[in-house]
Amino acid sequence: MPTKTANTAKTAELDVLLLGANGQVGRAWSEARCGVNMVAATDRAGLDLADLESLGETLFDLVQASRPNVIVNAAAYTAVDRAEDEEPLAYAVNALAPGIIASVAANLGLPLVHYSTDYVFDGHGDAPFVETDAPAPLSAYGRSKLAGERAVQAAGGKHLILRTSWVFSMHGQNFLKTMLHLAQTRDQLRVVNDQIGAPTPAELLVRVPVDMLRQLQGVSDPRWGLYHLCPAGYTSWHGYAVYLIERARAMGWPIRVAEKAIIGIESSEFPVKATRPLNSRLATDKLQQAFDIALPDWQAGVDQVLQSLESVR
Ligand SMILES: NC(=O)c1ccc[n+]([C@@H]2O[C@H](COP(=O)([O-])OP(=O)(O)OC[C@H]3O[C@@H](n4cnc5c(N)ncnc54)[C@H](OP(=O)(O)O)[C@@H]3O)[C@@H](O)[C@H]2O)c1
Repeated sequence: MPTKTANTAKTAELDVLLLGANGQVGRAWSEARCGVNMVAATDRAGLDLADLESLGETLFDLVQASRPNVIVNAAAYTAVDRAEDEEPLAYAVNALAPGIIASVAANLGLPLVHYSTDYVFDGHGDAPFVETDAPAPLSAYGRSKLAGERAVQAAGGKHLILRTSWVFSMHGQNFLKTMLHLAQTRDQLRVVNDQIGAPTPAELLVRVPVDMLRQLQGVSDPRWGLYHLCPAGYTSWHGYAVYLIERARAMGWPIRVAEKAIIGIESSEFPVKATRPLNSRLATDKLQQAFDIALPDWQAGVDQVLQSLESVR
């Protein structure tokens, strides 16, 4: 449900209206300690993005009641395989709803932060994709997210669209938590080693846009737009699993699987409904140069989340 929180903002703070408060990125926004003043946060019960009829009006009322200076859309249909069977629903939530949200934001003169995905690309080659590369999604989820980017752009308001990859945090369902669990209960793990990308901590997907929003100088700033955002360095799902499991073992987690029993396999040996890109590398030079922001190695985020999980083990 929407929650109105006390506005204790200093003038430099961002007054954020957050959509998708219960997701990995949504929770990272709620937990942000870097000058974010959460004036309102909604989950699915407070603002259902699939309810296209009432979305615009409900969001407008929410903005009037909470007076944000930025809207953050962290809500999305993220069930990549299920989307193959539910493409209309994925399209409503990931494409049509962001268009409505962006129109409300544009009409009220509010900037919008919106997230997208490496899955807008087809993953050919082995060079990192840049923002101007032609998207060619392989899945229903990827198509819906690409349509969402275009709908946000078409609304004509100021926006940051952040394409990211392989998100993880200590909350929700993600590869890191699944692997950590399996490593404690299985003698052998088989993990895909021919998809390459960057594991991205949800916390980075808050810290960086906060920095960007702080730097942006009003509506005429030429730096609004679409950026790739993930940490530095790339790995495979297998390399990611080996790194995190060995770090956990070193920290004293009761890891059962031996390192040599974490076996790399090809995507074809692990059939799933939606086709994933083999090359999920996103080039982040545009963002780093425009905002003079240095991005940490992906391993740093894994270490940090392992430590947070360790503190509640
Ligand atoms: N996860 C990844 O690996 C990944 C990779 C690349 C890009 N991204 C993008 O990053 C953004 C954040 O992803 P995430 O990892 O934080 O996703 P997440 O953990 O799955 O969270 C998504 C949130 O959206 C909410 N939601 C789904 N359908 C909704 C609806 N009809 N109305 C309102 N809320 C709805 C979900 O609500 P419930 O809690 O009620 O289900 C959930 O809290 C998304 O734009 C995603 O496409 C994610």
